[in-house]
Amino acid sequence: MRMILENIKELVQVDPKNRLWVAGKSMAEVQTIKNAFVLIKGEQIVDFGPMDKLRLSDFEADDLIMEIDCSGKMVFPSYCDSHTHLVFAATREQEFIGRIKGLTYEEIAQQGGGILNSARRLHEMSEDDLFHHAMERLDEIMLTGTGAVEIKSGYGLTTESELKMLRVIRRMKQHSPLLIKSTFLAHAFPMEYRNKREEYLSLLINEMIPQIASEELADYVDVFCDRGFFTMEETDRILMAGMKHEMKGKVHANELANSGGVQVGVKYNALSADHLEFVEEEEISALLGSETMPTVLPGAAFFLNLKLAPVRKMIDAGLPVAMASDYNPGSSPSGNMNFIQSLGCLKYGMSPEETIHATTINSAYAMGISESYGSIAKGKVANLFITKEISSYAVIPYSFGSNLIETVILNGEIISLTPDPSPKWRGEFE
Ligand code: NIG
Ligand code: FE
Repeated sequence: MRMILENIKELVQVDPKNRLWVAGKSMAEVQTIKNAFVLIKGEQIVDFGPMDKLRLSDFEADDLIMEIDCSGKMVFPSYCDSHTHLVFAATREQEFIGRIKGLTYEEIAQQGGGILNSARRLHEMSEDDLFHHAMERLDEIMLTGTGAVEIKSGYGLTTESELKMLRVIRRMKQHSPLLIKSTFLAHAFPMEYRNKREEYLSLLINEMIPQIASEELADYVDVFCDRGFFTMEETDRILMAGMKHEMKGKVHANELANSGGVQVGVKYNALSADHLEFVEEEEISALLGSETMPTVLPGAAFFLNLKLAPVRKMIDAGLPVAMASDYNPGSSPSGNMNFIQSLGCLKYGMSPEETIHATTINSAYAMGISESYGSIAKGKVANLFITKEISSYAVIPYSFGSNLIETVILNGEIISLTPDPSPKWRGEFE
């Protein structure tokens, strides 16, 4: 089966060079083709170019062809959301209200709220219910253009509950058209281990990680290296344990303080170092030339009113930057990557082009999939979306809070998402 997207007003983020990430000044340039086509065969993009190069007569007579007219509309590669915690049991709006009244995120955590609150709720919920709720969240993010997502554990905290979360993610991998990567996250010390850190570390290193590895339940290992959570030294030991079991590292680093997490991540060739609100020259130099993708999470900074990561400085120093949603109930209850682009432009001084790289190819790298996802290139998986009729690609970050996506294609198949074009109430006005 072949599918042709024709008369595309502008095909965005094409990359004949098939780069695995885009850094520094190059982030300001996005390659596009006006009046374009994309040819999909099976699950793959097999060709693309200007309409005048499309030769339908080249196709064999028995090829089934579906033609989609994209006049006035633009086509983008799907977003890759490289950092989420979207398996969770309950929302945490009481903490949100507490923060409005003046409590800080860290105060809530010290009082047993925050991650520990999510862990209690997750412990009580059945695996089936967790799965169904999380699948609904996947539908929600598909609607807003996400085609690949990384999902972390870390609300389990006990071996049993961490394994439960990871089994839920494995089941999601089997049932969703989205590409999913799973990460085991050492997230916080449970209350009962606050004065027995060494014992908890031993549980993580000698029990959880080996068991997760033997059941192949996680692709990566992540540690929340920050003030009040895991220290640099503890992070080092956990990443080392992950490495011994062939799981690449990722780090939550420098969100609440200058934690040293970036340097530990770089030492272990972590795929990404995420958050980065407290980043100075030393962290920028550590990241330059490393294999670690600096990843900012604008949703969390926005929702928690954090100081902002110095994204302009980072890009101007030549670094690549990725952006992800951090979708979770405590610090970023949204997985809308269009809004993440808006925040990138409005809060971090990024151009629309820079936010496109940050949410596609660079975030694909941050989840280890940029060889097959994150740009329009021959041989890549056909994960893309068609917009409504729009005047330019900058209108996506400009229209914060709107969804300008009309059609989603994942693995070369149309995912039916379009709401009823003529709902009943419309008749009243006609
Ligand atoms: O990435 N920073 C650490 N972990 C999550 C939030 C966890 C929570 O509050 O539930 C984050 O923001
Ligand atoms: Fe996170």
